Amino acid sequence: MKAQKTLIIAGKGGVGKTTIAVNMAVLWAQEQWQVGLLDADIHSPNIPRMLGIHPQGAEGLVEGIEPASPMKGLKVVSLALFLHNQDISITWRGPIKHGVIKQFISDAHWGELDCLIVDLPPGTGDEAMSAVHFLKGVIGALIITTPQALSLLEARRTATFFRQHHVPIIGLVENMVDFVCPHCEKPLAPFGEGGGEKVAEDLNIPFVGRIPIDPGAAACADNGEPFIISLPQSIIAGTVRDIGRRCQTLMEQRGRLTLVTQLVYKG
Ligand SMILES: Nc1ncnc2c1ncn2[C@@H]1O[C@H](COP(=O)(O)OP(=O)(O)O)[C@@H](O)[C@H]1O
Ligand SMILES: [Mg+2]
Repeated sequence: MKAQKTLIIAGKGGVGKTTIAVNMAVLWAQEQWQVGLLDADIHSPNIPRMLGIHPQGAEGLVEGIEPASPMKGLKVVSLALFLHNQDISITWRGPIKHGVIKQFISDAHWGELDCLIVDLPPGTGDEAMSAVHFLKGVIGALIITTPQALSLLEARRTATFFRQHHVPIIGLVENMVDFVCPHCEKPLAPFGEGGGEKVAEDLNIPFVGRIPIDPGAAACADNGEPFIISLPQSIIAGTVRDIGRRCQTLMEQRGRLTLVTQLVYKG
């Protein structure tokens, strides 16, 4: 696999990592990038369901690991593609997961990619370690949080993990920020306000944007329709388009920086 750029998406469970990974991958594929989307969540592989991809079962492995391609420019690899029964619980331990992530990165037929997006499971355990270990080239991490203190704490821990592993942090996105009450039309902030920006400032990383709560977007995920496609005029789609653009700029800057650093250090 040869990817120009790699973006690792990380954070606490349930903050919207997979939702953002899926919609950003679709967005960039719509913009004519060749995008790979790797579902590194071995225990809860949800990307195929969110994209409406029908699993191939183990037959999908006969010719090696063949990514699913739900639209032009997008290739997806997930353990869920190769399971017949989606209700099965995966109880693998670290070394097996390490091997699976290695195969997904190195052996899947990705071809040439402009960008590989890696959607991590919650936290910084085996899968995060394996992804950081096997990925090469210009990589950056995007941390997702909600405004809730517990999620912000996890964002700080996640930032520490990437710094310890010398992975540049592209920035922080705050999801599920507010929501307009359908009855009184007042904006409500059920998880608190302003925490994401403060954490980004404390960590000295870019604050990339905030995404509202949109029950329509949650329904899209359940129905296998990315909201970037099925609700293109919605506020949430507009916000994710802005965040996608900002991430592209930050990745380009990071790429140039990495190249300069390599030139300086290698002489
Ligand atoms: N901005 C949002 N508005 C409404 N629902 C959301 C939003 N972001 C995520 N969700 C929903 O929250 C749940 C968790 O999101 P998910 O992307 O699976 O989180 P993670 O990958 O971080 O565990 C999903 O049901 C998803 O549809
Ligand atoms: Mg997820």
